[in-house]
Amino acid sequence: MGCDDGTVAMLLPYQGHPEITDETPLAKPIAKEPKTTPALRERGITFKKVMDRAKRIDNDEFYTRYEDVEKELSMYDKRVWENKTVFCNCDDAVGKDENSTSAFAMYFIKHFKTLKLKKLICTHYSGQVDLFGQGAAGYIFTKTGFKAIGKYERPKDYNGSFDHPLSIEILKNEADIVCTNPPFSRAIDYWKLLIGSGKKFLIISNITNTRNTAFIHYFKDKKVWAGFNEVDVFLNPKREPVRAPAFWYTNLKIVNRPKYRLLKIVPLKQIPDQYKNVDDAGTLIVDRGYIPSNYNKPFAVSPRSILNGVLEKGYEIVDTTRYTPYIDGQEKFSRVLVRKQKG
Ligand SMILES: C[S@@+](CC[C@H](N)C(=O)[O-])C[C@H]1O[C@@H](n2cnc3c(N)ncnc32)[C@H](O)[C@@H]1O
Repeated sequence: MGCDDGTVAMLLPYQGHPEITDETPLAKPIAKEPKTTPALRERGITFKKVMDRAKRIDNDEFYTRYEDVEKELSMYDKRVWENKTVFCNCDDAVGKDENSTSAFAMYFIKHFKTLKLKKLICTHYSGQVDLFGQGAAGYIFTKTGFKAIGKYERPKDYNGSFDHPLSIEILKNEADIVCTNPPFSRAIDYWKLLIGSGKKFLIISNITNTRNTAFIHYFKDKKVWAGFNEVDVFLNPKREPVRAPAFWYTNLKIVNRPKYRLLKIVPLKQIPDQYKNVDDAGTLIVDRGYIPSNYNKPFAVSPRSILNGVLEKGYEIVDTTRYTPYIDGQEKFSRVLVRKQKG
């Protein structure tokens, strides 16, 4: 791999732990019957509370727990990964033990053989916080096959940023599937670069993205959709659990989304009065997963219905501006305007 300035990357031997293999007991085995996160109602939390909490995310140093990576990735058809190069491009460090290795890197190293991966590339960002105890400089970790020893490269002047020219080169020329939890504060730039690359991806991002004008057009254009699970616990740099509501987003095929069961697509008349309303401009608002099956005008749904897959059930997002209803002059929680697709 070469740097932009023509510097030849320095190849260092793998300096950490002996190679982690499929057999390495790094974490609990995959549950036989993976479950999705229980509905908020089942957990006694309101969606508004979750959204309010999400707004407070202002810190990038939230690390993903292994169990959350495992829970989501075990939901996809294994053939998705076969003979593919996976790129973890946001601080996905590989260190001397599991405490200094990101859950993403760990998962793919551990399951390299069973997923039949071709290659794993993880880039480590030399940010202000030395997240995984790897030192300040950015590096590239590459494992080229199940039996291959992972190699570190520390190209001169490489900071490991996802938008460094060398990282973009890997994204464009080598990666088949990008999988990571990128920094919340750089989400707009990250999504633009990633989705613009046309690559497959499975990433974690803020749960509010479905109603955020910076992202809503990606959902409208079907360039991204919700993955299976919500993620609401991360680890801080001290490895303590912290709450931050996020969700998995992807462009990988989702078959039989379990959360479809939370959508109640019924004729308008059958929607209980307490779950349908009309705003001051006359727009219908439905809540609690209710979707009118026989209504052809735009109506508003909660972002949760987008995450539960309503856009895969014959409905489309109407526009990409923020919709905040007023009822009797009172501002209400913002929602997403959708309508039944024609034909
Ligand atoms: C939400 S954390 C997730 C870290 C890791 N991917 C995980 O899942 O545990 C996002 C990480 O991205 C790092 N980061 C910040 N700016 C970055 C950039 N420009 N390029 C790559 N990573 C960056 C932050 O330092 C932070 O550790």
